[in-house]
Amino acid sequence: MAHVFSTINLKGGVGKTTTTVAVAETLSAEFNKTVLVVDLDPQTNATTMLIGEKKWHELNDRGRTLAQLFKDALEPDNKQFDFDAALQKRVSDVKDARTLDLLPSSLDLIDVQDKLASTPSGKFYSVNPIELLWRAVKARLDDYDIVIVDCPPNLGIITLNGLRISHGYIIPTIPDILSTYGIPQIVTRVREFSDEIAETIDPLGIVVTKHQANSSVHANVLRTLQAGKDAPVFDTIIPQANDIAGAAEHQSHSRTLKQKYGYRGLADCYRSLAEEIIARLEG
Ligand SMILES: Nc1ncnc2c1ncn2[C@@H]1O[C@H](COP(=O)(O)OP(=O)(O)O)[C@@H](O)[C@H]1O
Ligand SMILES: [Mg+2]
Repeated sequence: MAHVFSTINLKGGVGKTTTTVAVAETLSAEFNKTVLVVDLDPQTNATTMLIGEKKWHELNDRGRTLAQLFKDALEPDNKQFDFDAALQKRVSDVKDARTLDLLPSSLDLIDVQDKLASTPSGKFYSVNPIELLWRAVKARLDDYDIVIVDCPPNLGIITLNGLRISHGYIIPTIPDILSTYGIPQIVTRVREFSDEIAETIDPLGIVVTKHQANSSVHANVLRTLQAGKDAPVFDTIIPQANDIAGAAEHQSHSRTLKQKYGYRGLADCYRSLAEEIIARLEG
């Protein structure tokens, strides 16, 4: 059975997408896992990191993104989403990441999310709007060892669709006051949701990102997180590094994980994080 987890934080810019993509590429390149990234964020950052902007435009123009899946719910007489047409195989510019697929996102998801939220439920012809993704992908998830869902920075209908297919979630956060502020709410809300749908969705852990070794705020907030009871904190800490920021640009030539995420132990950070995630998923 596939292990499925979501990447969540209510805050943007905390490294959700970078963590999702780097861990996905590492799981494929270094751990021989077959991996699917499901991009649910209208900002489409995971999508453009993995296939580049040009390819994304092509797919978007032809309705081959997850936005189409949700649009179909609003127009059930004109269903157009085609899983196989949307599924992008062997994505990533990392040389050895040959087993990584992507379900791309679209900027149109912003609109769709608003419409879904304001549409009376009767309009869905008895399809629960939080189950749209699950219905579309459930037969295909087990084609993969690991599925990672990159969620938008809120707990709206689109994110709940991601949680509906997940057995766990990770919370990337910068160890500062504002980035960690929403973590208790996330943990409580996901627990309530998992009770409502009677499925287990475990907090796998908090991933500390963009850590600055010389910051006393970071040191203090990290200590508070580690002492807290909301969710365990992964031992691996991802430092703030220009090389990691530069990895966001999709390259037309392939490169190694070290060339992409940086030498000096940076690519190794994602390796040890991937190892910890595997241990939690399988543990
Ligand atoms: N460890 C890091 N060091 C430096 N920059 C980073 C790091 N992780 C992410 N970034 C950069 O920070 C910005 C936000 O990261 P991103 O992964 O897009 O966050 P989110 O998905 O939470 O909005 C991006 O420009 C990204 O390249
Ligand atoms: Mg993002």
